[in-house]
Amino acid sequence: MKKIGIFYAPEKGSTEKVAKLIQSKLGANVADLILVDSATSAENFKNYESLIFAISTVGRDTWDSKYGKIGWDLFIPKISAHNFNQQKIGIVGLGNHIMYADTFVDSMGVLAEIVMECDGDIVGRVPADKYDFNDSQALYADEFIGLPIDEDNDSELTEKRLIHWLEVIKPEMGF
Ligand SMILES: Cc1cc2nc3c(=O)[nH]c(=O)nc-3n(C[C@H](O)[C@H](O)[C@H](O)COP(=O)(O)O)c2cc1C
Repeated sequence: MKKIGIFYAPEKGSTEKVAKLIQSKLGANVADLILVDSATSAENFKNYESLIFAISTVGRDTWDSKYGKIGWDLFIPKISAHNFNQQKIGIVGLGNHIMYADTFVDSMGVLAEIVMECDGDIVGRVPADKYDFNDSQALYADEFIGLPIDEDNDSELTEKRLIHWLEVIKPEMGF
């Protein structure tokens, strides 16, 4: 049976909550949940028809070596050597559009850049006018490259945003 792999990090916070919500909306028979850590291999991507990546932005510092690396920080170098061969990938980015209006969901853009360099086919762009922010690395013209989620300020919108986005990407992923 065709399956979707939901790869997410970090654990225990809003990203994990949203990753679990995505799995519950898709159904555990359709979607597996995979926490990204130092032990994760890019070979895991081959177990799935399509992929969903969930990532939070915790500032530029985490992309530098000064702070301890976790989750995607450790996994991204492994992705860089991977070829997605046009596999369909949807990205969800956790952020805070009020406190970090100038760098809103930046990490989603950083990850998307790498996925595209590695021949991934990103689905599920979202119109930017649905959000209030100043700037973002996840912006492509007037669309976000994936789905921004703001659990800090807009948690009441999360489920609605997710349901709508999943309805858009599911047919593109062949589900
Ligand atoms: C130190 C720190 C830096 C952050 N920097 C950003 C940022 O640059 N852009 C953004 O959109 N959100 C930023 N956020 C907000 C987080 O992305 C948001 O709270 C997210 O839901 C956290 O997900 P998590 O609980 O899974 O870690 C930052 C949060 C923290 C604590």
